[in-house]
Amino acid sequence: MARPRIALIGAGQIGGTLAHLAAIKELGDIVLFDIAEGTPQGKALDIAESGPSEGFDARLKGTNDYADIAGADVCIVTAGVPRKPGMSRDDLLGINLKVMKAVGEGIRDHAPDAFVICITNPLDAMVWALREFSGLPHEKVVGMAGVLDSARFRHFLSVEFDVSMRDVTAFVLGGHGDTMVPLARYSTVAGIPLPDLVEMGWTTQDRLDAIIQRTRDGGAEIVGLLKTGSAFYAPATSAIEMAEAYLKDQKRLLPCAAWCDGPFGLKGMYVGVPTVIGAGGIERIVSFKLTKPEQAMFDKSIDSVRGLVEACKAIDPTLG
Ligand code: APR
Repeated sequence: MARPRIALIGAGQIGGTLAHLAAIKELGDIVLFDIAEGTPQGKALDIAESGPSEGFDARLKGTNDYADIAGADVCIVTAGVPRKPGMSRDDLLGINLKVMKAVGEGIRDHAPDAFVICITNPLDAMVWALREFSGLPHEKVVGMAGVLDSARFRHFLSVEFDVSMRDVTAFVLGGHGDTMVPLARYSTVAGIPLPDLVEMGWTTQDRLDAIIQRTRDGGAEIVGLLKTGSAFYAPATSAIEMAEAYLKDQKRLLPCAAWCDGPFGLKGMYVGVPTVIGAGGIERIVSFKLTKPEQAMFDKSIDSVRGLVEACKAIDPTLG
């Protein structure tokens, strides 16, 4: 059987890391696409030259031509601009919306059967726009946010409790970052929910609240440290986890920005919810009853995503 084809649209910090991870994990042959001439070609060659030492079998190609993404099984989109210190993800909207139009049309014309994972921010609005511009089925276009938000949460919790990150699970809903809704009662250490761990004296409610806030601000913390760009290692790893779930039909239960028309009472919008990812793309959305405080936080998150989608429509009237 031929190797799967993975197209990375955007060969910047995240795109390059995605290519390296996909090669090392032997997920398939990789095409790096970017509008910058030389960047995707240079990164593809550099990563390919790490193959003999690492021992992977994957072909890498860098390109400035959409025709080269033809037949891609997975497209991961990072094209656009990242944040600089002091900017919110929403500040990127106008610029990145135009990029989503070009990318969406490129995927529509050359890789219409792909599973598309969007990483470009502001995530929940950009994945919606990308789906609109590409016209692909909703279950094949998804945004990477919850896997990263929950990874950050799990990391901070593992440090707080001094236990392995592998034994910490976290459950998050809602928009990316600032309006993320952590579900403490469904977040656990080896199955013991966080509220029980507070009762057991493993931490205090105040410390837990601070960890939740740090998770929400996780992207900004890294932007503040790097000063010239935003996070790329963990975002790339998170998207690779989603791509692998699709390519290997793993039926992983992962929080993603998915199209919700019905679940959680939503009427047609992209937002972070628990999903099952397998060969069908987003095969299921796991919907359940929220408590009142959770619902209030989720509603706030929904409102903020809706606001961004309306802003996209105002900028580009061709959008729904
Ligand atoms: N088509 C293809 N590539 C494009 C386009 C376009 N229309 N416009 C810009 N790019 C490319 C840039 O040339 C650059 O190489 O997108 C790449 C973005 O890379 P970086 O600037 O390094 O940004 P990165 O850190 O990878 O983040 C990308 O993901 O997390 C989000 O907020 C982040 O929106 C940002 C995106």
